Amino acid sequence: MPALSRRDLARAAALAALGRLGSESALAQRALAGFNAPPDTVWLNANENPDGLCPVALAAVQEALPASFRYHYREWREHSAAIGRSAGVAGDQVLVGSGSSEILCAAVHAFTAPDRPLIYMQPTFELPVTLAQALGRQTVPVPLASAWAADVKRLREEAAKARGGLIYLCNPNNPTSSLTPKAGLDWLIANLPPNTVVLVDEAYLDFAHGPQAASALDHVRAGREVVVTRTFSKIYGMAGLRIGFGCAKRDLIDRMAPYVAGVIAYPSLRAALAALGDTRLLPERRARCQRVRAGLVGWLDAQGYQCIEPHANFVMIDVKRNARQVIQAMVERGVAPGRPFPPLDNMLRVTLGTETEMAKFKKVFLEVVRG
Ligand SMILES: Cc1ncc(COP(=O)(O)O)c(C=O)c1O
Repeated sequence: MPALSRRDLARAAALAALGRLGSESALAQRALAGFNAPPDTVWLNANENPDGLCPVALAAVQEALPASFRYHYREWREHSAAIGRSAGVAGDQVLVGSGSSEILCAAVHAFTAPDRPLIYMQPTFELPVTLAQALGRQTVPVPLASAWAADVKRLREEAAKARGGLIYLCNPNNPTSSLTPKAGLDWLIANLPPNTVVLVDEAYLDFAHGPQAASALDHVRAGREVVVTRTFSKIYGMAGLRIGFGCAKRDLIDRMAPYVAGVIAYPSLRAALAALGDTRLLPERRARCQRVRAGLVGWLDAQGYQCIEPHANFVMIDVKRNARQVIQAMVERGVAPGRPFPPLDNMLRVTLGTETEMAKFKKVFLEVVRG
């Protein structure tokens, strides 16, 4: 058996780390594993969407199952083109993955190096940071600025100091649900130091609205050093089907492509394409999210609790004490909110569920915080 190279060992360590930590939902479930959740627990811990698959997507899965003994490679180009059209880019500017997680990981592999760190806002979605650390890359946290937006000046400064790197910017951000306004994003992308790529994670952008909630896709179309990731896990309600994609100019796609498997489950692909054809889905779901979100924020305010202004399908609440005990007490009463997110120790993240689930959340929240 040939000896393993240092590179092989680093890769094995990275994969092992991913196996241990994995996706947001794996992290979320793991964090609650020691708690005693009753069988009828309401799970508001992983930013999933209770709307689930829309009817056309469900029908597409059922129709695709009998044809799933093939890989369907010959249709691949056509599928990438259709996904690209939905984002306003060409098919060869799209990389489809097993969730957007696979694309985030591919970007870390492709655009960090021993002398090119991962620079990220803190706190944020941990997956890219975990992988970069497992690969032995330098990781540079940059605390969020005022109004919980990314500190674009400092992100740029750190990239310039390192003479290049990968800047990870999650917009809206997880776990804070906060937005980095369009002007900040545009400034960062217009002022990138050499050898720097920006990875903009737009997993939750479809839940946001207003002129500040701008996609970075315009910058991809303009040929900038930007990768934008999108997912079908959130507003489309398909987290378990594992499909997401990245958009970037061709040379960036070519550099990421070796790090993805290059094929995903056929029913997932068919479901995603069917959902993209449902023109009412996004506006309806966005409106429902906004209604439930505004209802929760107003209710919290009336109870004397503040939250970070939310732009995604979850809300970060200041519980005015260490959230760890609140989480445990809530889980024991059948409502599972998000895990702790240090250093925001007094904050509780709750995913927006159905009206019924939110009613249970409110009841249990009050029981726990009023002790
Ligand atoms: C900010 C962010 N990006 C990406 C993902 C990964 O999602 P998926 O791999 O299901 O597309 C998540 C999951 O919760 C997330 O919160």
